[in-house]
Amino acid sequence: MKKSILLLSTLLSASTAMAEKVELRTPNNSLVLDLNKGAEPQFVYYGPALKSQDIAQLPLLSGGRAELYPAYGATHTTSETCLAMRHADGNMSTQLLISDYKIASVKDKAPNGAERSGELLTITLTDPLYPTTVRLYYQSYDDVDMIEYWSDITNGEKKTVTLTQFYNPLLPVRRGNVWCSHFHGTWAAEAHLYDEPLTNGTIVLKEKDGIRNAFISRNEVMLSLDGKAQENEGAVIGASLLYSGPYRVTIDTDDTDYHYYFAGINPDNSEYHLKKGETFTTPHSAITYSTKGTNGVSQAFHRWARRYQLRHGNQERMILLNSWEGVYFDINAPGMDQMMKDIASMGGELFVMDDGWFGDKYPRNVDNSSLGDWAVDTRKLPDGINGLLRDAKKNGVKFGIWIEPEMSNTVSELYEAHPDWIIKAPGREPVLGRGGTQVVLDMANPKVQDFVFNLVDTLLTNYPEIAYIKWDANAPVMNHGSQYLPMQDQSHLYIKYHEGLIKTCQRIREKYPDVVIQDCASGGGRVNYGLLPYFDEFWVSDNTDALQRVRMQWGTSYFYPAIAMASHISAAPNHQTFRTIPLKFRIDVAMSGRLGMEIQPKNMTDEEKDLCRKAIADYKKIRPIVQFGDLYRLLSPYAGQDLASVMYVGEDKKQAVFYWWKLETFMNQHFPRVKMAGLDPNKTYTIHELNRIDTRPLDFEGKSFSGAYLMNVGLEIPKSHIVEYHKQNDWSSRVLYLSAE
Ligand code: DGJ
Repeated sequence: MKKSILLLSTLLSASTAMAEKVELRTPNNSLVLDLNKGAEPQFVYYGPALKSQDIAQLPLLSGGRAELYPAYGATHTTSETCLAMRHADGNMSTQLLISDYKIASVKDKAPNGAERSGELLTITLTDPLYPTTVRLYYQSYDDVDMIEYWSDITNGEKKTVTLTQFYNPLLPVRRGNVWCSHFHGTWAAEAHLYDEPLTNGTIVLKEKDGIRNAFISRNEVMLSLDGKAQENEGAVIGASLLYSGPYRVTIDTDDTDYHYYFAGINPDNSEYHLKKGETFTTPHSAITYSTKGTNGVSQAFHRWARRYQLRHGNQERMILLNSWEGVYFDINAPGMDQMMKDIASMGGELFVMDDGWFGDKYPRNVDNSSLGDWAVDTRKLPDGINGLLRDAKKNGVKFGIWIEPEMSNTVSELYEAHPDWIIKAPGREPVLGRGGTQVVLDMANPKVQDFVFNLVDTLLTNYPEIAYIKWDANAPVMNHGSQYLPMQDQSHLYIKYHEGLIKTCQRIREKYPDVVIQDCASGGGRVNYGLLPYFDEFWVSDNTDALQRVRMQWGTSYFYPAIAMASHISAAPNHQTFRTIPLKFRIDVAMSGRLGMEIQPKNMTDEEKDLCRKAIADYKKIRPIVQFGDLYRLLSPYAGQDLASVMYVGEDKKQAVFYWWKLETFMNQHFPRVKMAGLDPNKTYTIHELNRIDTRPLDFEGKSFSGAYLMNVGLEIPKSHIVEYHKQNDWSSRVLYLSAE
């Protein structure tokens, strides 16, 4: 649908105007603001696309605070504000009124390098008392229901001003029965879903790790406006802050008729000194509005991510074996060769050598040394990377390599040469992380940025056949201090670190647009849309237990598409939970994301390898549906029904894949029949089970049903597998492939 911008009530000249209501539109959503010169910008409406006569009639907000960008002190003191600053003379009050606004069609490059088009609304605000200028930006997309918005603040004063709070513009949400879905977790338990009603008071989601901002909570929220979230029905707003650093998201409910959603950089210990003439730009927020429940929001985010916010979102991902859980630090040339041979024999396409391959003076045999010394340990790999590339070629797979560029150990040649490159509190001993020696390099320092760039540059220049990099980060900021930043700007540490990181990633992508890069941080510590434009995928979690993965991948899928979710088949008992899960179930879960393996194949039986070989062959057939199709979450693992189910439907609705996982086993257990979603009711779909282990086919194997039947009635899935007696166990799962002519 063609976007449109309506400027009503006043004449407009070319692209600059002073009008009242301004509409920014995406294919199915409208955002309406009220903009009057000399007044504060007002929020009017965000929801389904409006007709022009409705916009003309739209009332201004009543029963709530409509100001889009309240600044602290002059007129806003009793409620949460977007901006708070100390002027050069110490005045803590700011008043921001519209001096101008303009709308322009834009065609530019999205952060992942893709061409995009839409409209850009720029609202310029100034303070009658001080030469402070704030610009608010709203950018729409022509082809996806996403609006991004952000701000920048320019100091026109003669001296430095201090910013103490810098949220993006707020979003008011009418009270009613509004529920908030958000994500909480920790290492090895990322992205667990929590749903709660919004009542009076404030919900705050924040991360203060400094490096890995997605462990404990995620900055994304879904706000379900028609009561508790439903997957395929009801109005839902989805919002994400596209930032890699510490954030703060606040949903504030006061004595008015509205909830107020704020998102931005976490201002804790991060006051920002803005010098005369400088401009501070906030990270973007992205919002979408769906009338089709949480799935509608997820699909909009997935579509937008694949097109604009994820590297190579339109290219199929390779099926890989990663060496970590198979050998940990025990890297050696014959072992790598064997793993390459094994994954190739099962149909895999890529082998990734994880941690443990480097270190000269200090070999990396455990996690207490060598980060930063990125030279091959020739005691382990006598023929170096060339030898590995030679073996990969011989085995017919691509080769990938692990690095942790932003880190060092106090036991390393790098630290011996550059102790001044690490983050540490002035005058204090560094606090040490993983292995008792890990330290974080200061990405605020341009020399460190060059070092990180050069590491990737050297690898990819010397070994252009490296097809994949796993970029890890396994430490938080443990004591506050930059040895690079001046003492008066120590509070810039987090902001400058992440600016430096993004700058370096951009530099890498300019020179190496094609290499596949995984975003990993002790698992899913860095699953955020600030970094993903430079990465192809992320490691969901260091926890590869398939049962817990069902929950983590469910939560992760709210905002992130399957193409980016690295999901690996690992050993039993599982290395994190020690649970013993049969291979069939482990495969069925891994196949719902970007399939890979994280196991020592030489410990697998021939029968197990055979099952994997077949699964990999089948995954190649369903890969376009999983990686580019629309996700429908059907039955939540959080619903307490001991069952979970999702499906992916191809764009033309001719093919789909259905997943069904039993999560618990009791006698006298009664499962609901799962209704499918997203199919064409008028098409006829033939069912074929993948990864079958039963000795006889399912009753509906090879049979055809209308989409309407599958969605209104659903298939009766047997509770357990029919296998030989000695193979029986308490686990059960199914993957069904649906195809229509
Ligand atoms: C943490 C990652 O999440 C793991 O997959 C692995 O790469 C280790 N680091 C290696 O040290």
